[in-house]
Amino acid sequence: MAFCRGSKWHKIQFVIAVATILIFVFGLKERKVNIFSKLDGYGREQGRSLSSLNYDYRNENHVWYDKNIPLIWIGGVPRSGTTLARAMLDAHPAIRCGEETRVIPRVLGIHGQMANSNLEMTRLQEAKITSDILDGALGAYILSIIAHHGEPAPRLCNKDPFALKHIKKLSQIFPNSKFILMIRDGRATVHSIITRKVTIRGFNTKSWDLALKDWNRAIKTIYDQCVAVGNKQCLPVHYEQLVLHPKSEMERILNFLNVPWNDSVLHHEKSIGKPGGVSLSRKELSTDQVNKPLNKDALWKWVDHIPQNTRENIGKIAPMLSVLGYDITSKRPTYEKDK
Ligand SMILES: *[C@@H]1O[C@H](CO)[C@@H](O)[C@H](O)[C@H]1NC(C)=O
Repeated sequence: MAFCRGSKWHKIQFVIAVATILIFVFGLKERKVNIFSKLDGYGREQGRSLSSLNYDYRNENHVWYDKNIPLIWIGGVPRSGTTLARAMLDAHPAIRCGEETRVIPRVLGIHGQMANSNLEMTRLQEAKITSDILDGALGAYILSIIAHHGEPAPRLCNKDPFALKHIKKLSQIFPNSKFILMIRDGRATVHSIITRKVTIRGFNTKSWDLALKDWNRAIKTIYDQCVAVGNKQCLPVHYEQLVLHPKSEMERILNFLNVPWNDSVLHHEKSIGKPGGVSLSRKELSTDQVNKPLNKDALWKWVDHIPQNTRENIGKIAPMLSVLGYDITSKRPTYEKDK
């Protein structure tokens, strides 16, 4: 009995020793990523700011990020091709997006709620917490999450669909941000949400009409912010166009981002799991779809499922469809732009 216990104890000691050595070795090898959270002057004195594509980050042991980092933000209503867009960009050797962080839209939401409450803002003022202090802290938090949950890259990118409800705030905190707003036919998005039983905060999936109204509200919030920051900072991309015309759409997107063309973006499935390529989460719903090459399967799946009553009143239920250029008169839109 004593012998057995001793042997177990030795095993545990052995495991701890090995683990310590491994942590030490890998800890030393790990690239240090430094985040500057001061309000300004971030790392300028060191003269190392990772803000250009010419920066050879692989030859450096330290990578410095600051609030002038040209972050790429991808978002929109969930089930609108945001995962596809980020997988295609992730396949580019200069861009790293990574999995959804989930915490970024939540902290943005909490800050947004407080900013909208006069009582809270008065209390913060009394505590000498200015909006500059809040933005600096929020920026440091967000940047820390983005920088540390994947490899360093010349262009870091984030895809949390609802982070784009906060485009204005994000562009204040990170003035060189670029936003890619994924837009998809709300009828297809709602069909996908209902059939795949996706739970989305603020979406009632009990009926097509309720879900379409929620889609309308969500896309309006995001679209208005996109328009407000202007077309230099925010680019609306229609999922249908990305799927039907991937080359020209990706050219347009990379051009908008000031990133040189690379063919790898058209074959994202080949970069899955490769170094510098596309890293996927097993817990994200869209993973099974972006595992496959680009395909048009999902464009018209909704057509035979939309209730007749909903179809007849679609203009009233979801007016954003027309605002965004979708054909609501035809039973099966072609999604081809009028020439
Ligand atoms: C695209 O990326 C690959 C992998 O990094 C690289 O070998 C290739 O030269 C790039 N092509 C262009 C056109 O930049």
